[in-house]
Amino acid sequence: MTGNAHELWTPAHRADPRPAYARLRQEARIVRLVEPTQQMPFWLVTHYRDVMPLLRDDRLSKDAYKLSEQARSFFLRFTHDGLARHMLFADAPDHTRLRSLVSQAFTPRRVESLRSRITTVATGLLEAAIARGRVDFLEAFAFPLPIIVITELLGLPPEDREPFRAWTQALLIPPPDGNPEPVMAAGHQFLRYFTALLERRRAEPGDDLVSAMLAVEAEGDRLRPEELIGMLFLLLVAGHETTVNLLGSGLLALLQHPEQHERLRADRGLMGPAVEEMLRYCSPVETSTARFTLAPTEICGQVIPAEEMVIAGLMSANHDPEVFAEPERFDVGRTPNKHMAFGMGIHYCLGAPLARLEAAVAFNLLMDRAPQVRLAVAPERLEWRKSSLIRGLEQLPVRFD
Ligand code: HEM
Repeated sequence: MTGNAHELWTPAHRADPRPAYARLRQEARIVRLVEPTQQMPFWLVTHYRDVMPLLRDDRLSKDAYKLSEQARSFFLRFTHDGLARHMLFADAPDHTRLRSLVSQAFTPRRVESLRSRITTVATGLLEAAIARGRVDFLEAFAFPLPIIVITELLGLPPEDREPFRAWTQALLIPPPDGNPEPVMAAGHQFLRYFTALLERRRAEPGDDLVSAMLAVEAEGDRLRPEELIGMLFLLLVAGHETTVNLLGSGLLALLQHPEQHERLRADRGLMGPAVEEMLRYCSPVETSTARFTLAPTEICGQVIPAEEMVIAGLMSANHDPEVFAEPERFDVGRTPNKHMAFGMGIHYCLGAPLARLEAAVAFNLLMDRAPQVRLAVAPERLEWRKSSLIRGLEQLPVRFD
């Protein structure tokens, strides 16, 4: 099953991708598409029951450096080489080694110890937003909260945060003319920033993740310099570009379903299931990142040639009626809810406990302090970002007055 310039990239799909995924699920279990801005061909797996084994399939590789020179330079032409050596682009045993260096910092217990700091930061941001009366919720709250939390965890100075958003946006949303130049320029700025930061931390270690990783690097063969930079880059980008959209799209879902908003406000015991339902329903990471065939490989009954890209449709799986009853219903009490929003297998989201905690703190605060929050524009005027990997709003204007 193949298709070019598919409806997935039309403005209508960005506004609501679910009908297009429903049609794709009917058409085929696996479909070959070409992403139009980057002219990037890939195979998309559409059903929940196929996405789960795909994400665990060790015949596929996450490491483009295992491909031929020609295939690698093609697939990585929008990726800055200096930032690409991280766990999400690695297979075992490199993946195991890299993930184990930081996994302790992200266990549910360690993350829980951040609750009071997260609450303080979130309270300050929300109070300032409420005082302004009308704000873009993303700019005033959903973006700063996760970026403050992850930069504090890493030990990056607050004054350094400012340019991160522009750099990550340039990296995640390549320009429509297919020119890789802005992506490489943003990558270069990250690289320069991290190199200078590491110099400073080497001279003056602190009580933070960067210093802890520098100590590991100094021990010898467990962490190469380019892997250290890749790790910082991955944690910084994955730590905020995703959670911002759980908070933004999650709030929009509540505002568009007032009865569910009211139900959650009345029964905070539902906060856990409600956050899971926001993850499922909104799917802030719309598709998985790339996996590659190293040899001809049969997937969903289709032989995929060697050196091709395969991607799991996470949002498609999360709205698959075979698994979720009435998948288009937003139900803050939905149980069970075994969604795929954080992926599956060895690359299952490292930051899931942190994202869940940030969301629970944020929505509890919103319920307590801003029960009157409402959309400040008609819903059809909202615009969605032009990325098929990250699903999120450009802005979310709300009123508190
Ligand atoms: C709502 C928020 C988030 C969502 C929906 C999300 C989603 C995901 C998904 C789907 C993957 C797997 C991608 C794949 O297999 O191709 C992933 C991996 C990852 N995420 Fe998250 N993420 C979120 C927040 C975070 C946060 C806060 C961090 C903070 C550090 C983080 C760090 C990571 C890392 C390091 C990986 C790679 C893990 C590995 O390769 O072993 N994420 N995330």
